[in-house]
Amino acid sequence: MPTTLITGASTGIGAVYARRFAARGHNLVLVARSAEKLGDLGAELRAAHDISVEIIAADLTDPAQLATVEARLRSGDAIDVLVNNAGAALLGPFAGADPARMAQLLSLNVTAPTLLASAAVGGMVKRGSGAIINIGSVVSFMPAVFPGIYAATKAYLLTFSQGLAAELGPKGVYVQAVLPAATRTDIWTKAGADLAKIPNLMEVDDLVDAALIGFDRRETVTIPPLGDAGLWDAFETARAILPSGLGGAPAERYRRSA
Ligand SMILES: NC(=O)c1ccc[n+]([C@@H]2O[C@H](COP(=O)([O-])OP(=O)(O)OC[C@H]3O[C@@H](n4cnc5c(N)ncnc54)[C@H](OP(=O)(O)O)[C@@H]3O)[C@@H](O)[C@H]2O)c1
Repeated sequence: MPTTLITGASTGIGAVYARRFAARGHNLVLVARSAEKLGDLGAELRAAHDISVEIIAADLTDPAQLATVEARLRSGDAIDVLVNNAGAALLGPFAGADPARMAQLLSLNVTAPTLLASAAVGGMVKRGSGAIINIGSVVSFMPAVFPGIYAATKAYLLTFSQGLAAELGPKGVYVQAVLPAATRTDIWTKAGADLAKIPNLMEVDDLVDAALIGFDRRETVTIPPLGDAGLWDAFETARAILPSGLGGAPAERYRRSA
């Protein structure tokens, strides 16, 4: 039976991933701060699916607690799938934002998934198999609509995932970035937004079920609400073409006329 470690499994998107991987017969390692919620979910999934469920109550913004999750990824029963899902949003402009809250967001949305992936890949590469799912966001394409650093943390996860996919794909490790649009979870009220004012909310079960279709197809980037796949292909084609031939002399348009 494969084993899947999910961060942010106590509620929202992570809890639905836990239910879906449990239904696929995976053993689980569930991570979040709320031990009670993880315990309740774990007990329910053990009973329903005859799987083993480990609970790690950890605040991923705390380096020592993050290290316990890294240690679990490096030792014990092999982790076949890592779902880097735990995250938070910080709304409002960058100017005037609280530096301590920004540092905490960077710890949770950037540092933690990076170090957890680092801890997971050693064993995956050795075994020649495994998967890492990173939960990004479509806001990484909308920096002007989402000022502040939340969109930038999610842009990091997209670029990070694409780089990892290029490096690890040939070694048998599959990497997927999932980019949800607004989804009905508690993240927005926790960030101080009124959920009732957010248009086009996707239901969380629909989001995860669509993301898992992308997972089963081994897509590198899955954007569940995107109907026209050609738009993404055009975007990626432009991204691939843009850097070709760059370097050397400044372009003509950046030379001052004498
Ligand atoms: N909902 C959306 O509209 C949306 C859209 C795009 C992307 N996303 C991304 O999807 C992911 C999941 O978000 P969600 O919408 O499911 O939010 P959510 O309902 O607020 O769940 C967040 C999860 O992360 C955990 N978490 C938060 N801070 C943590 C910390 N310091 N240490 C450990 N775990 C922590 C929470 O558990 P505890 O509180 O128990 O620790 C919870 O399980 C995030 O990365 C988010 O950025 C969401």
